Amino acid sequence: MRKLPIVPRWKVLNRVFKMLKNPIPSFNDYIEEFGDTFVVYVGGVKRGIFSINPDVIQHILQKGNRKYAKSPIQTDALAAYIGFGLLTTEGDYWLRQRRLIQPGFHRQKLVGLVDIMQQEVIKACASFENSALNGIPIDMNQQGMEIAFKIVATSLFSSDISDEKMNELSHSIEAVQAFFIRTIRLPFMKPIYQLTGKIKKHQQISDDIATILDELIENRRKSGQRKDDLLDMLLETRYEDTGEGMTDTQLRAESLILFVAGHETTANVITWMFYLLAQHPQVVQKLRQEFDTVVGKDELDYEDFRNIPYAVQVINESMRMYPPAWIIDRMAISDDEIDGFEVQKNDLMIPFIYGLHHSKDLWDQPEQFNPDRFSRENKKDRHPYAFLPFGGGPRLCIGNNFAIMELQLILFHLIQRFDFELADQTPVDLLPMITLKPDRAIRLKVSKRKINSFF
Ligand code: HEM
Repeated sequence: MRKLPIVPRWKVLNRVFKMLKNPIPSFNDYIEEFGDTFVVYVGGVKRGIFSINPDVIQHILQKGNRKYAKSPIQTDALAAYIGFGLLTTEGDYWLRQRRLIQPGFHRQKLVGLVDIMQQEVIKACASFENSALNGIPIDMNQQGMEIAFKIVATSLFSSDISDEKMNELSHSIEAVQAFFIRTIRLPFMKPIYQLTGKIKKHQQISDDIATILDELIENRRKSGQRKDDLLDMLLETRYEDTGEGMTDTQLRAESLILFVAGHETTANVITWMFYLLAQHPQVVQKLRQEFDTVVGKDELDYEDFRNIPYAVQVINESMRMYPPAWIIDRMAISDDEIDGFEVQKNDLMIPFIYGLHHSKDLWDQPEQFNPDRFSRENKKDRHPYAFLPFGGGPRLCIGNNFAIMELQLILFHLIQRFDFELADQTPVDLLPMITLKPDRAIRLKVSKRKINSFF
């Protein structure tokens, strides 16, 4: 059996403080020194197998997926805050939920959401309009979060949710997520958080979130109204075996999970994508050519989404360079063998997606922003597990089509209306939290598009 190289514990210890802020450069150095798959003792004790090898990752996520489960970080710790649902469960319960909910995210089903999403994107253009008028650069981190949150919220609840409740929900979800990360990254602080009442406080915020969601669900049930939104889908869908629908507790957990899984991920793509576009006017020009010639009107309709491949290439290339889900983790639930090396039960398996997307073995000039690498011609010989922004195998992101549609809409409306420039040349570093963020605000100068074909 092949022995995997082990990163010596002293090397990890030497970097522990640097790694707390941003572990990506250290992981890249280990890849340089130890190759595409190696062992690290996480926290000095837990055997973790890191990999950027697409065959190894494909085995973990897809071919051998039965031997790997989500780690307790998600199934226990996260579930304590957001409930048990698609993102936070395993085994038979997860499979039942996935079978129940998946059809609602099928491309054809999303047609009903195009209008809701598009109106939200058009509303969001007002802030950009203001920025163009008053000359104050726009903060793309904040805009990304706002747009993505509102799109998930209105896709779930249509107009049932007031602006006030939307703000409350957004702040509460962010507070709970931020606290959750702190408890994971600094586990030794738990007793202090307990003593100072922080755990209780955040549990209370989780309860407040539950109250808002319960109210929205109850009101919809009482109204007996049918709407073209995700809540309607969640309320109407039935388990095949029993013919029953979900309970209110299940409905609340699944809708909160859609918020948590669907808003910060997409928000980061928006921020990074416009950061890249502000520096690549030739890409913007090509996008506009596609929009002007293929769409040629001021809104997208369902058919248009299939016919703007260059927009999808830009989205994919942005997610290659800055994958929101920059790392995935699994636990081996039994011994296994991958590619001639041994996996022991309880090993932590770590597909390092950022490293995969920047691998010199898989990508030509990986640090260059080049959407052409996703053209039909250029991608045809690529390993199917070389590009994994949405993960892979049975736990593939359920919202992938939803996210791509949403990002196409945002690209279309913003690029057709405005020109963007970086307001600030200070280098931007990575801030890998649950999702991959920039370490500072990305501020862009916005002006009205100069040559305007139809606005
Ligand atoms: C660009 C945006 C997005 C990215 C990059 C992304 C990425 C991912 C990834 C990598 C996973 C798999 C995690 C793993 O295997 O451990 C995942 C799962 C999931 N995502 Fe997304 N996601 C995005 C948007 C969305 C949206 C918009 C929604 C819903 C509205 C959503 C809902 C989910 C759910 C429910 C899961 C769990 C699926 C399961 O385990 O069955 N995501 N996402």
